[in-house]
Amino acid sequence: MSVGKSLPHDSAPLHVTGAARYIDDIPVTADCLHLAFGLSNVAHGDITAMELDAVRTADGVVAVLTADDLPPDCDVSPAAHDEPLLADGMVHYVGQPVFIVVATSHLAARKAARLGRIEYAEKPAILTIEDALFADSRFEDGPVVWSRGDAGGALKGAKHTLQGNITMGGQEHFYLEGQAALVIPLEGGDMLVHSSTQHPTEIQHKVSHALGLPMNAVRVETRRMGGGFGGKESQGNALAVACAVVARQFARPCKMRYDRDDDMVITGKRHDFRVDYQVGFDNEGRISGIEFTQYARCGWSQDLSLPVADRAMLHADNAYHLPDIRITSHRLRTNTQSATAYRGFGGPQGIFGIERVMDHIAAKLGLDPLMVRQKNFYASGGDISEKKKGAQETPYGQPVEDFILDGLVDKLAESSGYHARREAIAKWNAANPVLKKGIAITPVKFGISFTLTHLNQAGALVHVYQDGSIHLNHGGTEMGQGLFQKVAQVAAQVFGVGLEAVKITATDTAKVPNTSATAASSGSDLNGMAVKAACEELRGRIAAFLADQQGKKVSDVEFADGMVNVGRRQFTFARAAQLAYEGRISLSATGFYKTPKIRWDRVKGRGRPFLYFAYGAAVTEVVIDTLTGENRILRTDILHDAGASLNPDLDIGQVEGAYVQGAGWLTMEELVWDDKGHLKTHAPSTYKIPACSDRPDVFNVALWDGKNREDTIYRSKAVGEPPFVLGISAFLALSDAVAACGDTYPALDAPATPERILMAVNRMKGSA
Ligand code: MTE
Ligand code: MOS
Repeated sequence: MSVGKSLPHDSAPLHVTGAARYIDDIPVTADCLHLAFGLSNVAHGDITAMELDAVRTADGVVAVLTADDLPPDCDVSPAAHDEPLLADGMVHYVGQPVFIVVATSHLAARKAARLGRIEYAEKPAILTIEDALFADSRFEDGPVVWSRGDAGGALKGAKHTLQGNITMGGQEHFYLEGQAALVIPLEGGDMLVHSSTQHPTEIQHKVSHALGLPMNAVRVETRRMGGGFGGKESQGNALAVACAVVARQFARPCKMRYDRDDDMVITGKRHDFRVDYQVGFDNEGRISGIEFTQYARCGWSQDLSLPVADRAMLHADNAYHLPDIRITSHRLRTNTQSATAYRGFGGPQGIFGIERVMDHIAAKLGLDPLMVRQKNFYASGGDISEKKKGAQETPYGQPVEDFILDGLVDKLAESSGYHARREAIAKWNAANPVLKKGIAITPVKFGISFTLTHLNQAGALVHVYQDGSIHLNHGGTEMGQGLFQKVAQVAAQVFGVGLEAVKITATDTAKVPNTSATAASSGSDLNGMAVKAACEELRGRIAAFLADQQGKKVSDVEFADGMVNVGRRQFTFARAAQLAYEGRISLSATGFYKTPKIRWDRVKGRGRPFLYFAYGAAVTEVVIDTLTGENRILRTDILHDAGASLNPDLDIGQVEGAYVQGAGWLTMEELVWDDKGHLKTHAPSTYKIPACSDRPDVFNVALWDGKNREDTIYRSKAVGEPPFVLGISAFLALSDAVAACGDTYPALDAPATPERILMAVNRMKGSA
């Protein structure tokens, strides 16, 4: 068995010794050119003059290109065709690329890019959610509204109501390897592109479009990324297209990588949101009606904002049955970086809204917030009686058939000692005037599948060589999440060989075409299945051949422990491959998979967008210093559902990393723009991500013992994004600690930085 084993990441030795190759490590010829962008310094305006002579004459500079020097229609957007590679007469945010410097070294290009003088006729800039609402600046004609039942009526008839809002900041991806591309011109105008991307096919598509070439003239290769986190779904397009355009013009290889400051200033981040809510409920906290209004700050271009905002709406219920509900979503256009995919893809923002509501209700009724949550849970998947069926449907009409959170949360509450610790904390807080503790438990239910149905497909290409070694490719990309290892385990499992027999090489558009981004946590679900299909095809061919040769039935052939047993005869897998080769059996096959059962009407907001849900829950305990606002996570316990895990250690690693990243989003990572639209936090000196020392002092992470109800790859579940949402428990624990300073429900927005916590504490003391 290789599936289900806790094997380390396949590149771990390369990672820790520095031998793993990233784009910038690929050896290039001496004639390679290096690119840097000159950036807009104003948030909105017309370009009236460009003085670039100082750039052109700077040391090492070979050429400077502006929009006029580009091929027509050089677009780098993922969907809406609204992002010219270089600003075309107008700028829309501070940091927008305006010209390209081509130089003989990376440093020369960057230095020269600073020497450009651009003049603008400035226009008013729309920077905030409030600005955008005031100016009615949005994508699409108006807000998107999905509803079920009569939320307004339910609110009127409710025993209790309350309203509130919460704002949450964006988040920089802070992948360790910045955006990078290397383009090598080949004979006849073809291009080889190395890109640090989650989406090689997209890069291929954008480069071929910009150059006016068919897709078969552009090959894109991605060995690995030093992290992507959604930030490399679309944000690599500009670098690859810029390199390709210049590579064609000069017939020389071109490389571009963003320095960290440039990366943070140019590229999109997580969407910041405001969520307003009105909720009606009974004495036990059971919700009857709810209205959410979600405001997403999307930045200057559309990028992936519409599906991100959709996913926020699709997760507004999280784990709770909300009978009458109305969700309104504003997709606001602002003069800032174009917000993009980031782990959870809007899901975390939507879920944060309802989790805040749960705590708010509990505070109002004086109940344990866990009890209020449990009262509102979907009914358990096992026992869907006809009567309960209505309570099993999400607001968008997907039946929740696999709900396990009641049992999972009970188990976590017990293993973490939640109830006893909550009491102990209340006592501790009563005795301690300066330090205050808080605790919170939050669940996640996360929908798995791309909401754009056609993306739910994957391909694979598998070769067995005559020495029995196996070489495979699939459409997924490796960004540290361990996808290659999991998929290799699938191949080893099918052939009954050891993992050392399986090699996966760089993702390559020439080997597996028309791929989807490695995103939506679906990498192993999709590519694992495609690889399994290809391997089974090959195993079938080898089995049929050997059975025939040995005069046995195919069902007599068995692959296990590196051997192929044909009746009582035994061959090593290598010998079997050799025999099949000599028997002129094709030992190469493709595999394909498409996700079953899903359908989705995004205009109506109804259907079954997800094959299944992934679940989990976390308990976080924190302490705050009420004199300074400083705080620490003391302990976190997580129970997470990865189905029948393909690789428990890798999955636990994903859960740990996602939780810390989620907690970072809501507690310490703060993006600050000034009133002219300049991002002031564009380096680790001013933008604080969690460090190793910020991980919880006690961190107990376990996987739920259960199989996926749906027929996924060996009944596992996607794990990349869902546990990110569990970081919400860190925020709500801080809020709980602040609540101990007074007797109202604290107004605390995210990120709950020390400053915000201190202000919230002072407000509480003032009102007490
Ligand atoms: N883990 C690491 N180490 N690095 C990453 O960039 N990206 C996350 C998650 N885990 C990421 C990660 C995101 S945003 C997604 S969608 C999934 O991995 C993608 O990979 P998968 O589909 O194979 O889980
Ligand atoms: Mo992940 S945000 O779907 O790349």
